[in-house]
Amino acid sequence: MRKNMTTLYRNNLLERMKAAITATAKYLPSGVITNTDLEKLLETNDEWIRSRTGISERRIEKDPARATSFLCGEVAGQLLEKRGISAAEIELIIVATMTPDMLFPSTACLVQSIIGASNAWAFDLNAACSGFIFALSTGASFIESGAHKKVMVIGGDKMSSVVDYSDRSTAILFGDGAAGVILEPAENGYGILDTKLYSDGTNGKDHLLMTGGGSLHPATHETVDKRMHFIHQDGRQVFKSAVTAMADTAAEIMHRNNLDAENIAWLVPHQANQRIIHATAERMGLSDEKVMSNIAHYGNTTAGTIPICLAELEEQGKLHKGSNLVLVSFGAGYTWGGMYVRWQ
Ligand code: UT7
Repeated sequence: MRKNMTTLYRNNLLERMKAAITATAKYLPSGVITNTDLEKLLETNDEWIRSRTGISERRIEKDPARATSFLCGEVAGQLLEKRGISAAEIELIIVATMTPDMLFPSTACLVQSIIGASNAWAFDLNAACSGFIFALSTGASFIESGAHKKVMVIGGDKMSSVVDYSDRSTAILFGDGAAGVILEPAENGYGILDTKLYSDGTNGKDHLLMTGGGSLHPATHETVDKRMHFIHQDGRQVFKSAVTAMADTAAEIMHRNNLDAENIAWLVPHQANQRIIHATAERMGLSDEKVMSNIAHYGNTTAGTIPICLAELEEQGKLHKGSNLVLVSFGAGYTWGGMYVRWQ
């Protein structure tokens, strides 16, 4: 009896409605900082940065009046236009970011205001570099439950607002950017078919963080003097954890869904370091032409990386109905996870 119930429950889950990505859009500011520019500010060089990270340049929003909500607002406007729907049709807006315009109100509410999505509810989600995957999973569950039919999920960060340009270990890595998707009920057999998310605060909380400006260390002259409003990272430690977690999760997603190197169209990985991307692809047995990488031009845009990749793939006509995608990310927390999407 118990076995039958379990089988019934499983089948029910399998048959549950899925969420599909029905539009993508991205926004990268026009300002560019090249490795050569950084050579003038820091004791570093183009060869080191390219060989250790794969990054050649990153985009920077130079206008101080344009914060994360501006980047995400540009994405939101494009998403409506591309899908051909009005702002009034959006029921939920989730913005994944770790660089909100301010602690409150949420950046999602600011985006709602920018596009005039007066029927939506809106909130921010902070899972650092895994923010977009966590938000996509959250948004998808509102479609799967039948609660909503149109959900906007955006990942964006103005990393230049928290990067210390006198710290060569982090200044070379990050850039500004945002991108997002619209989620709607999927056709049978398409959409987000599997998700596996993880967090490990015990091992992750001390290696990638910004300590100033929260309730533990509210802004004071002292927190500013101690540069606590900037990112601090133990790069080597994070690198080791990221390589293992991204590769393991990608392999797990493949195994759970009977995917192999042949039937995967694209690995869409978080863009933190080309060496991490390469290690993940190698573990999956994927050749370079199936691996999305634009880190050379944008660096690490945190919550922006994966949706920027999706938007570029779509712009370039590289996503087709039935294309199997594996999305995988790793970031501060630690947070990490993977997804299997069959493109609709
Ligand atoms: O997206 C969120 C998750 N974040 C990540 O996944 C980032 C993970 N970490 C990394 O990508 C890499 O650890 C970094 C790119 C941050 C650093 O690369 P690494 O190969 O781990 O270098 P390292 O920190 O072990 O440093 C190697 C050497 C050191 O010199 P010594 O001690 O060997 O003499 C550093 O001082 O390179 C030096 N170094 C630099 N040299 C030139 C560190 N940064 C630089 C630099 N330019 N910018």
